[in-house]
Amino acid sequence: MPTTSNVRPIMKTWTSSPKLEGAGVHLRRAFGFDELPQFDPFLMLDDFCSDNPADFLAGFPWHPHRGIETITYVLDGDVEHEDSLGNGGVIGSGDIQWMTAGSGILHQEMPKGSKKGSMYGFQLWANLPAARKMMDPRYRDVKSGMVPVAKAAGGVQIRVVAGEAAGVVGPVKDIVIDPEYLDVAVPPHVRWKHSVKPGHTVFAYVIEGEASFAPGTDPSPNQTLVLFGRGESVQVETRGRSARFLLVSGKPLGEPIAWYGPIVMNTRDQIREAFEEYEKGTFVKKSGVPKITT
Ligand code: FE2
Repeated sequence: MPTTSNVRPIMKTWTSSPKLEGAGVHLRRAFGFDELPQFDPFLMLDDFCSDNPADFLAGFPWHPHRGIETITYVLDGDVEHEDSLGNGGVIGSGDIQWMTAGSGILHQEMPKGSKKGSMYGFQLWANLPAARKMMDPRYRDVKSGMVPVAKAAGGVQIRVVAGEAAGVVGPVKDIVIDPEYLDVAVPPHVRWKHSVKPGHTVFAYVIEGEASFAPGTDPSPNQTLVLFGRGESVQVETRGRSARFLLVSGKPLGEPIAWYGPIVMNTRDQIREAFEEYEKGTFVKKSGVPKITT
């Protein structure tokens, strides 16, 4: 009998809920402000999958960020991106943009969709520790072809964006919270077990099909968020249907959080200062954002 004693149990599970964000984008929020600080070091996960351009074309026009990282993962369609310092481009199907806002960036993100009019993607916000909130901003643009696919027993396929799965290491490295970001596809009637760092926060978000996320539990369908309890591994099992899900983990910061809109700091005074600087035009500290194309 295989032991399941070190397998993480499901701590909480729920379905993402509709939200209106940006200039009128209809998306689904898997978790956010209301769930603080359960997902520490993560702050928010938005699901902007839609087959209706009216849901997403309004986009996210110019806005600031400070104190966080925003991680945009596109499955299908294009997101046009531009920032106040001259960077610009398209996050296309299968691409990841890992943006470290640090001391401050002004940018816009405009989903354009695919030729069919669909736009499938996700944006995760990760917090930065107090000591790094004012670090220089940076981008990591990872094109789809640069994301390795790990293969595990039973036909499991894992796109490894960050971290390691089945001996394959992802291209996004040197991130403060030591994250793992996996896109996992599990065929029907397969059990997949994956080691995770014991002290890290771990969650999954179902993006296709359904799977059970802990021994003896019922399958969770598409758009379900699963927050895991403590343990050394997660165990996912499918029945008659396949499943695809994001599996994300990171090292908790355990610091106070002061969050207003797109700016997340440690104190209210820091939030006030950020918005005062934004009004005065002194918000951006670094002229020229390093862009690392992997
Ligand atoms: Fe943004």
